[in-house]
Amino acid sequence: MSHKPGIKLRDSFGSKFGVVAAAAGSAVGLGNIWKFPYITGVYGGAAFLFVYLGFILAIGLPIMLSELLIGRRSGRNAFGAFKKLAPKSAWKYIGLLGIAAAFMILSFYGVVAGWSIQYIILSIQDGFATKSPEQLNSLFTMLIESPQKPVYLQLIFMVLTGAIVIVGVKKGIEKFTKILMPILVFILLALCVKAITLPGAERGLEFLFKPDFSKLTSEGILSALGHAFFSLSLGMGTLITYGSYINRENNLLRTAVQVTAADTIIAILSGIAIFPAVFAFGIEPSSGPGLVFITLPNVFQQMPGGYIFSILFFLLLTVAALTSSISILEVVVAYFKEEFRLKRKPATIVATILISTLGIFCSLSMGVLEPYKLFGLNFFDLMDWISANMLLPLGGLFIALFVGWFLGAKKVYHEILKGGSVKRGLLYIFIFLLRFIAPIAIAIVFMDGIGLISL
Ligand code: PFF
Repeated sequence: MSHKPGIKLRDSFGSKFGVVAAAAGSAVGLGNIWKFPYITGVYGGAAFLFVYLGFILAIGLPIMLSELLIGRRSGRNAFGAFKKLAPKSAWKYIGLLGIAAAFMILSFYGVVAGWSIQYIILSIQDGFATKSPEQLNSLFTMLIESPQKPVYLQLIFMVLTGAIVIVGVKKGIEKFTKILMPILVFILLALCVKAITLPGAERGLEFLFKPDFSKLTSEGILSALGHAFFSLSLGMGTLITYGSYINRENNLLRTAVQVTAADTIIAILSGIAIFPAVFAFGIEPSSGPGLVFITLPNVFQQMPGGYIFSILFFLLLTVAALTSSISILEVVVAYFKEEFRLKRKPATIVATILISTLGIFCSLSMGVLEPYKLFGLNFFDLMDWISANMLLPLGGLFIALFVGWFLGAKKVYHEILKGGSVKRGLLYIFIFLLRFIAPIAIAIVFMDGIGLISL
């Protein structure tokens, strides 16, 4: 049967703002608000932030543009895209690496989102009021060590993620993110204002912005690179998948710049909301994954309207997590749909069940499964470490090589210029970064980080 011209066979985004909102919705998530402050704390503050920003500009931005253009040019999922653009070659295995990363990331991501759901409930019950910083600390520890709660909270979150993905790209993903992203920014701004007026706020701001490069370690640099990928949703085909739903009028360079800027600003705002409070309440900046969950309830207690703010904050944190988790699940669903010819619904159900099962192990890994470790890491940390610090940078390295060397500058320019004019100089810089800077920097940081070389 032939199709009438103008009828779209594949789902696609409906508007330009929708594209940016969906891609920014994917990028902005627990990575910005939960993970960024906590790893910045662990790796020493401002020096880590500056290295991270350097990676975002020199590596993250060009790779984001690369993923979007691979997606739009091929119109396929993360695996199928390489199969189509480089038939009968090994490039498609980059896609498989991405699918594996999606499984791992979502398995622990759902657990943290589950904690956030619990904190919505605690906020509604006014559960933080009158608690000392120590009590707020043990509230969090008790939650993550509990043998049941994290499991069912994670499952609730995964069911929500699956439900949105079943509805599909335009109705589910785009509509949802367009409304909620702006509200999140507003709440964060309010928290920043409160945080910087706390007594002792300057020490927090200094920690975040005044670098002491002697504190940097190889592991910190690898984590900054891994986090640049994680935070921008790069290296595993998420933006290839979303790029495949973008129409030809879209200016991909502008989209990439807007998404990168939004993601970076939100991470920095989260840092500004959290570090002054960390110092004001005498919390260790390096206290790890609980940092947001322990610090902010202290702030809410002291804020006028703190009750409402805490409910809204954890609600939006959960929503920000959802707009990211749907993009991770979509990588797997698009792959199942297109490569195994499944319908959207069964593809989503199978993917959700498989990932949630892995998620159960992550949920329990700080409680009953804590004694079981590999390389000194529990299951949750292992999934996080392998995916963010190994699979994403490796995926990014291959994507840079693919676009920089394999596709060829002519095709790349053509794809970028479809959506409007772009200065020649920028295109040259882009290709240069992809051909040389990104691959070499990733290779060095990666080998240094895993101990193969020592700088
Ligand atoms: N970028 C998301 C965050 O910062 O929370 C997490 C994420 C989404 C990572 C999609 C990777 C990905 F492909």
